[in-house]
Amino acid sequence: MLSKAMTDRLNEQINLEMFSSHLYLQMSSWCAYKALDGCATFLSQHADEEMMHMRRLISYLQETGAFAIISGMEAPPKEFNSLQELFEKIYSHEQFITSKINELVHLATTESDYSTVQFLQWYVAEQHQEEFLFKGILDKIRLIGTEGQGLFFIDREVANLAVTTGKETTSMSTTPA
Ligand code: FEO
Repeated sequence: MLSKAMTDRLNEQINLEMFSSHLYLQMSSWCAYKALDGCATFLSQHADEEMMHMRRLISYLQETGAFAIISGMEAPPKEFNSLQELFEKIYSHEQFITSKINELVHLATTESDYSTVQFLQWYVAEQHQEEFLFKGILDKIRLIGTEGQGLFFIDREVANLAVTTGKETTSMSTTPA
């Protein structure tokens, strides 16, 4: 059984994951509007992945007999000065999400709630992968540059990532693989 504090914090995380999904869907729309189709596809897939992160939390709360709550949230930002700025925002957003997951793990550990500690290990590993992924994209943008054909090549690189990472989005199980 989850404590009230743990239930509240997991419910907050549900909303953060949903906000992440809205953010990436909005960013996907911005990319599509700028004819950056590879980035649009990649971010749309990533928005789906964030919904899966949200649903895992809902399933876990339900499995423990707690009440999962979907709250309202602010609209994500929709204007970006450049593709580089957009991916910089994603990278800092993912670092923020990592800090929230770490806070959850800390609370679960403090409460000796080892079931939740184990459940959260999936998110710890996922955040490591996501920071690695987005840092890699940012590095490519800085390396290739966005002048001339640079944007075209970056969009093609990110399109390849969409094909690769899109296969990992389907599992809903809350038990570790
Ligand atoms: Fe659900 Fe991108 O972290």
